[in-house]
Amino acid sequence: MQRSPAPSSGASCLKVFKKFVKSLGGFYLCLHTLSLTPMTKKLLLVAAVLILGAQLFQPTRNESLDESPDDIMVRYNVPEPIQITLKKACYDCHSNHTVYPWYSYVQPVGWWLNHHVEEGKEHLNFSEFGNYPLKKADHKLEEVMESQETHWMPMDSYTWMHPEAKLTEEERLALINWAKSLRSTLNQTP
Ligand code: HEC
Repeated sequence: MQRSPAPSSGASCLKVFKKFVKSLGGFYLCLHTLSLTPMTKKLLLVAAVLILGAQLFQPTRNESLDESPDDIMVRYNVPEPIQITLKKACYDCHSNHTVYPWYSYVQPVGWWLNHHVEEGKEHLNFSEFGNYPLKKADHKLEEVMESQETHWMPMDSYTWMHPEAKLTEEERLALINWAKSLRSTLNQTP
């Protein structure tokens, strides 16, 4: 996993570091007001250092600004309802354009999300679909059909936080039919 400290310039890095030390100082003072054993205090302090320290390592964001010329929606005929379905339920993990929720800025949640995006894109990237050789494109569409027939995608851990991405029976069937028809178009291409 690629990780880079959030701030790029030295000055803002110093700012973040100061904030970090300040938060830690505040937490330490707070601990003193509680009647805890020295051991518990030490453990809590170590936990705070780890949690706050983790915030300094924000994963690289999957937010390409350019509309890819190889995006499936640019290269092939994708009817509007299918575009809407793909964008709301699949593009966060299967394109170069993730729309991040606020909690993605909180580590280690952000690392976990990033892992899904990296893995999802590696298997299927709609932003680069136009670049896929015909055989691969056809196979990926077959997998898309399968993912809908088996209710595999989008994964449950995603729809739990994105209820709008839970597809209706109608949307799933439309997605299957569209993938099927694009496959037959691809297979007719000499
Ligand atoms: C939360 C992230 C996420 C979302 C949202 C998501 N996927 Fe996935 N998808 C993954 C991951 C991760 C994998 C790889 C999982 C594995 O192989 O175990 C994957 C694998 C796949 C594969 C298998 C590709 C291959 O060749 O192995 C297909 C097809 C697929 N997803 C289709 C979809 C479709 C269609 C949607 C939307 C309806 C969708 N996914 C939404 C994360 C996601």
